[in-house]
Amino acid sequence: MTRTIKLGLILHGVGRSWGDWRHPDRDVNASTSFAFYLEQAELAEQGKFHFLFVADSLSINERSSPHYLNRFEPITILSALAATTSRIGLVATLTVSYSEPFNVARQFASLDHISGGRAGWNVVTSWLGDTAANFSKTEHPAHDVRYRIAAEHVDVVQGLWDSWEDDAHVGDKESGRFLDPDKLRRLDHHGQFFQVRGPLNIKRSPQGQPVIFQAGASEDGRDFAASRADCIFTGAQTIEESQDYYWDVKARARKLGRDPNQLFVLPGIGPIVGLTEEAAEARYQELAALNSIETGLGMISRAFDDHDFGAYDLDAPFPDVAHLGRNSNQSQSNHILEQVRAEGLTLRQIAQRIATPRGAFVGTPEKVADALQKWFEEEAADGFVLFETLPGQLALFVDHVVPILQARGLYRADYEGSTFRDNLGLAFPENRYTAARRNRAAA
Ligand SMILES: Cc1cc2nc3c(=O)[nH]c(=O)nc-3n(C[C@H](O)[C@H](O)[C@H](O)COP(=O)(O)O)c2cc1C
Repeated sequence: MTRTIKLGLILHGVGRSWGDWRHPDRDVNASTSFAFYLEQAELAEQGKFHFLFVADSLSINERSSPHYLNRFEPITILSALAATTSRIGLVATLTVSYSEPFNVARQFASLDHISGGRAGWNVVTSWLGDTAANFSKTEHPAHDVRYRIAAEHVDVVQGLWDSWEDDAHVGDKESGRFLDPDKLRRLDHHGQFFQVRGPLNIKRSPQGQPVIFQAGASEDGRDFAASRADCIFTGAQTIEESQDYYWDVKARARKLGRDPNQLFVLPGIGPIVGLTEEAAEARYQELAALNSIETGLGMISRAFDDHDFGAYDLDAPFPDVAHLGRNSNQSQSNHILEQVRAEGLTLRQIAQRIATPRGAFVGTPEKVADALQKWFEEEAADGFVLFETLPGQLALFVDHVVPILQARGLYRADYEGSTFRDNLGLAFPENRYTAARRNRAAA
């Protein structure tokens, strides 16, 4: 099969940054407006996008960004969108650090049934320490422990998704046989973090195993993502950074015996499209005018466990807060510290740089398509997950960039199959107990 670009859309309400909500065309209620989500989902499906993605976190304070302050719970909004869409994948974020595998397995199996096989789980570990206080815990698990929890959690969830063999549900009214009891399996998991008997109280879903997303970027994070994810997000900002990440996680996957072509690396990008170069530049300036030092400090704070940088002298050297980053968003805080150290940046300088990065995807539809093609062909990406940077940008992308990618043979003209796995080109995973039975019979 020829390799083609995968596309996803981040549904991010009032926007990604602190000032986005103030744009004149932005609905200030977008983050909790079903009408807004509906419209974005329809547009993305018209553009034959592979998936919608709902990000999430579970702790806020008065300095959090507007979309973080007020947003939908991911499974809930995606269950509603499952009913209004028909082909697009539905990827919800859910943290392993504050959830029980049984509930998670059940929620995603339900979403997979409701949507006819379009569910995906973005597995996150939660990097904000204050989350513990919302879940009756006195301590947030350490960074390395969170990834150990993640590995065991995903194993349990995937085990539970196999509780019912595909033909366990007989439903024969004549004989009165609802279930084949030999094909209903307990997991009997006894691990370091979880004790789960099973079976799951919902039958195997259309995809068998919903699609797994991850975005680990530290050493532990990359190992975890390479071992279990089907799709991996990266926050890489340049083609070189993304290539390094791409080759690294694919090499890790290969070492683990996985086929690296069955694992897709997807940078998160915020394209700014204009029908002329001048129009695109003007839109970039519009976005930059909304996001200055407040956004920069907010972005930095987020990587350092929501630390309040407001009290520091903006023009003094960057404060000594490395320890906060190590146990929070390790890779992003490291990335900030590397730039600060290499160039001797003050807090103001790094905040300004981070506030509105121009990125590689600003320009006419041809120029944006060229950049996407370059990243794709030069192994910096198997596809992309898009933020809508400004109101109207998704429509411009769908109407003007997508047709160019299609004309170049880089992007599909229509959905290939009915499930999310089909549309990503991922095989249907055979139930582990069915496979074991088949192997025993063959032996
Ligand atoms: C495009 C993209 C989307 C992400 N979405 C979420 C999210 O919704 N919730 C979350 O807690 N983390 C999210 N992350 C962050 C990752 O889960 C992870 O914490 C981060 O990449 C740092 O990984 P590390 O701890 O291995 O350094 C996202 C990352 C990227 C690149």
